[in-house]
Amino acid sequence: MTAPSLPGAPFLARQGDDLWLDGVRLADLAAEFGTPLYVYSRGAMRAAATAYQSALAGRRHLLCYAMKANSSLAVIKTFADLGLGFDIVSGGELARVIAAGGDPAKVVFSGVGKTRAEMTEALRAGVKCFNVESESELDTLSEVACALGRRAAVSLRVNPDVDARTHPYISTGLKDNKFGIAHERARQAYAHAAALPGLRVVGIDCHIGSQITEIAPYLDAVDRLLDLVEQVEADGIAIAHIDLGGGLGITYTDETPPAAGELVRALLARIDARGHGQRELLMEPGRSLVGNAGVLLTEVLVLKPSPEKNFAVVDAAMNDLVRPAMYQAWMGIAPLHLRTDGQANPPLSWDVVGPICESGDWLGRDRVLALQPGDLLAVLSAGAYGMTMASNYNTRPRAAEVMVDAGRAQLIRRRETVESLLRDELLPS
Ligand code: LLP
Repeated sequence: MTAPSLPGAPFLARQGDDLWLDGVRLADLAAEFGTPLYVYSRGAMRAAATAYQSALAGRRHLLCYAMKANSSLAVIKTFADLGLGFDIVSGGELARVIAAGGDPAKVVFSGVGKTRAEMTEALRAGVKCFNVESESELDTLSEVACALGRRAAVSLRVNPDVDARTHPYISTGLKDNKFGIAHERARQAYAHAAALPGLRVVGIDCHIGSQITEIAPYLDAVDRLLDLVEQVEADGIAIAHIDLGGGLGITYTDETPPAAGELVRALLARIDARGHGQRELLMEPGRSLVGNAGVLLTEVLVLKPSPEKNFAVVDAAMNDLVRPAMYQAWMGIAPLHLRTDGQANPPLSWDVVGPICESGDWLGRDRVLALQPGDLLAVLSAGAYGMTMASNYNTRPRAAEVMVDAGRAQLIRRRETVESLLRDELLPS
């Protein structure tokens, strides 16, 4: 019997009894750098980006990596080297693009609320456009731009009111979400933007949710967006680019999302069929570029079997990876080394939990594993929304990060130290 392929294959693979990522044995990295440890395959990230790029070849396009998924400088550099742009949501993310050598002219600045300081920095850096989600923000941005003697390029994020059929916390295209400008107000908002002295209308955008595993909601969104483009242009306001957001899902367990190329081809076909093929197309994928490229390594600290429930306490916790606690997300958990020496404990069903003082601190429930203290495990598909959502809860320094590339491993972020956590705090006099 052949083992089922792992999410992250072919870069993540079992060779003999050991788990390897992009030519490196993961147990060796745990030994060298300690746990908890994030490890990312550079090859897997490149392959994911190339899948989008090949399908978009020959079209005017810009792939803007939504760096909220994983904003480590080495990851940004990997994508900048491939010519990608970036979707940012804060001044901090802009600073990361610049620090990693990315091109600010390929940056779109998204988000439902930007500060004046962030707008100023982004205008000075020369970002490609601001994705704006309210008339109130249009006014502020125009003022800020005028004060700098510039005009800000804007795209309006429209809420197409389509159901992406994903987890409610990560579904964003429905009317009752806080995101976007309601479809029926959009025409008015464009007229408003066009009349403001500090703005230049350049595009339209939407983002309907995350971990989307079907093409149909995207096609619904494209249709709704193109309807608007036609109306707005009939009003005399030109729209140069269409930005379809991110959201493509990945395989955590048994999901079967379309491949990036398949999604892009379906989108292009619909855009062409409606006669809009000449427009520049932007996309903002996050998870699908990095999710399956990463794993989180952790060591089993304590085993607590009981008649009701077996708990395996590991050294990674909800502060390192909050997705299970926050979204009840299912993420694969695999041993780094399979014991085939006859010394293994019998497999049992374990709740794999962290050491934090919260019942919600779990990484996986009811996982059948043959465990003993000191064993090393990998939480799979942890490249997206893992490290970027990590916190210091329980005064836990954040994990180190390693990037592997065809058999070579490099530390890309040192493990945080407790001293650095205390550094900015002041005792009352
Ligand atoms: N563009 C915009 C405007 C977004 O808000 C997002 C994600 C993206 C692009 C990228 O979406 P992606 O391709 O990664 O699905 N923390 C959650 C996911 C939150 C997504 C927020 N917005 C999780 O761990 O599942």
